[in-house]
Amino acid sequence: METRPTSLQDPLRALSEIALIINTIQEPHALLEKVLEIAMETLEAERGFILLTSETQPEGFDVAVRRNFTEEQLGDVVRLSTSVVYEVLRSGEPVLVYEALEDARFGGAESIVLQQIQSIACVPLRLKERQIGAIYLDSLSKRGRFTRDNLPFLDAFANQAAVAIENAQLYQTLREENGQLRTEIQRLHGFDEIIGQSPPMRDVFEMMSRVLDSDATVLVEGESGTGKELVARAIHYNGHRKAAPFVAIFCGALSDELLESELFGHKKGAFTGAMTDKKGLFEAADGGTIFLDEVGDLSPRLQTALLRVLQEGEIKRVGETHVRRVNVRVLSATNRALEDLVEDGSFREDLLYRLNTIAITMPPLRRRRGDIALLAHHFLDKYAVGGRSAIRGFTPAAIEALRVHPWPGNVRELENTVERAVVLARGDLIDTPDLRLPDQKTVDPFEPGVTLKEAERRLVQRTLDECSGNISETARVLDVSRRWLHYKLKEWEAD
Ligand SMILES: Nc1ncnc2c1ncn2[C@@H]1O[C@H](COP(=O)(O)OP(=O)(O)O)[C@@H](O)[C@H]1O
Ligand SMILES: [Mg+2]
Repeated sequence: METRPTSLQDPLRALSEIALIINTIQEPHALLEKVLEIAMETLEAERGFILLTSETQPEGFDVAVRRNFTEEQLGDVVRLSTSVVYEVLRSGEPVLVYEALEDARFGGAESIVLQQIQSIACVPLRLKERQIGAIYLDSLSKRGRFTRDNLPFLDAFANQAAVAIENAQLYQTLREENGQLRTEIQRLHGFDEIIGQSPPMRDVFEMMSRVLDSDATVLVEGESGTGKELVARAIHYNGHRKAAPFVAIFCGALSDELLESELFGHKKGAFTGAMTDKKGLFEAADGGTIFLDEVGDLSPRLQTALLRVLQEGEIKRVGETHVRRVNVRVLSATNRALEDLVEDGSFREDLLYRLNTIAITMPPLRRRRGDIALLAHHFLDKYAVGGRSAIRGFTPAAIEALRVHPWPGNVRELENTVERAVVLARGDLIDTPDLRLPDQKTVDPFEPGVTLKEAERRLVQRTLDECSGNISETARVLDVSRRWLHYKLKEWEAD
């Protein structure tokens, strides 16, 4: 019996590798590169390319990726109508050329002669009845590089690859459509820099659009990092005061005296350090908007002064006795429930009513998980800019990890996470470990500020993890019915 050279490296490993990348590489070009790389390594081919059928190309196909081929060599190999490639595309069957020069079918082809090709393997990429392209491999150094023994592997490999390629193309189309939808929605509401399509964010946009051109005070409520300042800025810059200044001040950072002088200005000599007359922020913002961040931190004295601006449109610089008139729209933000502060006497009720003519509540990220993938891609675009980073996307596992994370720090935390991952990621896709997300199990269900509902959810999730996802066991540990547990999991899934 004739002994055939076995050039198969490790076909099983190649098949399992391709199965793996089906689930990780979503970007079509990266996927094709990988498919070609695995095929060439497994069969010890020296050159190779993948072509995909294309309706817009005159030849009916397009070379999508190639290795070790110059443009010119490639042209020769694919153009020849008698070549292997055409035969494969025409018949939908793989073609193996054991000794190319001697082969009766192709030996005379110009490309084979000129390039001294010794051995060729070419397999169609097929999806059920549809041909989507072909993988071409050749060897210049060795006749008999590819044998019939390679065929079962090549067939299985090409079938797997075809599915992966189709998936990546579908995913790409979806992403593009998603991007178009996003621009569409963005164009509708006009708040470009605020990302979100979830129902609670739509409510926010809707409310913002309504208050843009009024002078109504707006109180933006929500946890830290939910985008309160972003909303305040957008209201100003999309509204009728946009040509005048937007001035933001954080009410929690300064001492009472300094804050008063910052807001209202002072007269020279009003206190030690007041070397000159100074205009305050209310005067600086005249005609525009002032944004009071963490307004719940204002002292009683400043609350009274603020009430006067809102009621009379008047301010008094520190150390002066006469009043000045200002025309300023007041927007404010808080991450504490001001009603509670009113309740315990630390915030004036009449001021609260003046500040929240309109209240906008920013939903925490964990209540709008549908926006997470969108935001993650938005921040990826922001940080992986201008070719300085090779990163092209996330693995599906990474997106899932982002989606289920509890996000105590909301969008700001998500933004930081993506920024860090862009720096840390080695490949061209961000994978779960690159995200450096804290272990879910260490999340404290009872940390301050957590709602009862959230605490319940975290406790259940943690117990589920500890019971390796076993529902009966989890129900037993928590002393609840399995029905209750199923019901809760369904409810959270819908969030
Ligand atoms: N909906 C959003 N779309 C895009 N970026 C957002 C969004 N919400 C928050 N961010 C990002 O998170 C950061 C923190 O938002 P910020 O408005 O300062 O939150 P808050 O004032 O509620 O603490 C912003 O600088 C912005 O980069
Ligand atoms: Mg803020």
